[in-house]
Amino acid sequence: FSLREYNTFGIAAKAKSFVAVQNTEELTTVLKQNDDIFVLGGGSNMLLTKDIEKLVVHVNLKGITIEKEDQDYVWVKANAGENWHEFVMWCLEHNYGGIENLSLIPGNVGTTPIQNIGAYGVEIKDTLAYCEAINIATQEFKTFTNEECKFAYRESIFKNELKNKYIITSVIFKLTKTNHKLNTAYGAIETELNDRKIGIPTIKDVSNAVITIRQSKLPDPKELGNSGSFFKNPIIAKSLYEKAILNFPEMPHYKVSETEVKVPAGWLIEQAGFKGKRFGDAGIHKNQALVLVNYGNATGAEILAVSKDIQATILAKFGIPIEAEVNII
Ligand code: EPU
Repeated sequence: FSLREYNTFGIAAKAKSFVAVQNTEELTTVLKQNDDIFVLGGGSNMLLTKDIEKLVVHVNLKGITIEKEDQDYVWVKANAGENWHEFVMWCLEHNYGGIENLSLIPGNVGTTPIQNIGAYGVEIKDTLAYCEAINIATQEFKTFTNEECKFAYRESIFKNELKNKYIITSVIFKLTKTNHKLNTAYGAIETELNDRKIGIPTIKDVSNAVITIRQSKLPDPKELGNSGSFFKNPIIAKSLYEKAILNFPEMPHYKVSETEVKVPAGWLIEQAGFKGKRFGDAGIHKNQALVLVNYGNATGAEILAVSKDIQATILAKFGIPIEAEVNII
């Protein structure tokens, strides 16, 4: 069974077998009957470097419901298989605010907590009330509060202690119905809103601005296989940063704490000369160096090799290690 259509990198890896589950009963049954499975959500944050010699379980649980609401807030439950961007659009149609900055991120709702997706000053952790997940080994359901998810920059408990232990089945977001708290501080959003001469933006305006920015920089996976940012922006010790800027005084950075700074990996990759480069069908996107792309028939191993080359070059040039954000299988 080819997984090409099931991962946004468009890698033609194969699965031993494949099942798509449409509801939690089917999921429970599949888990009971199989003890060695590979869970596949939207396939938007992984690089398949080999065939999967297991049963691939595609989580396709659909449905959006309102759990409760009061005058100011609504708690919306989205099942794991809902497409993320379509869910964001649904919320905008209902005038529910809080996730508009996360427009156009590929993938499904169920994967968003795993890496705490984020963009333009907002992360999923800012609105996630709780999520529901099934224990793969025992098939028991458990609710994880926001705190229990242990969110950090592109991190959660599901990527660490509980890796491969649970499947997220639904996510419940606490969204605003009135008094939306817009997050427009990100430079590119401000510029976009000014260009459109929008005085008092609505959540829809912010979403439109985000969509325009993303479309100008990030390749559409339907046209060019990719997994968004391939690397995390490295958070490094201030002492390491101070050493690096002796040679590279223009290196951008953002303060994380008194002792740490974050450096944009896209800048490091561009400075190292990789932006827009192509190695066979694997390449580095021309508008955003943090995004690796598949021009058609690249294998996961070829893309992985390019990523290792980038990591080694950056370590040698700047003394800064960069880590993959994408899950390498
Ligand atoms: N930059 C370059 N060259 C490049 C790309 C970036 O020099 O080719 C530098 C520029 O200095 C720019 C800075 O990097 O000012 C930041 O670039 P950008 O605003 O494009 O954001 P990013 O740090 O590259 C992060 C997220 C994105 C998210 C954007 C916007 C990570 C790993 N990536 O990228 O998330 O959309 O911020 O908030 O944190 C994703 O995770 O898949 C993703 C796309």
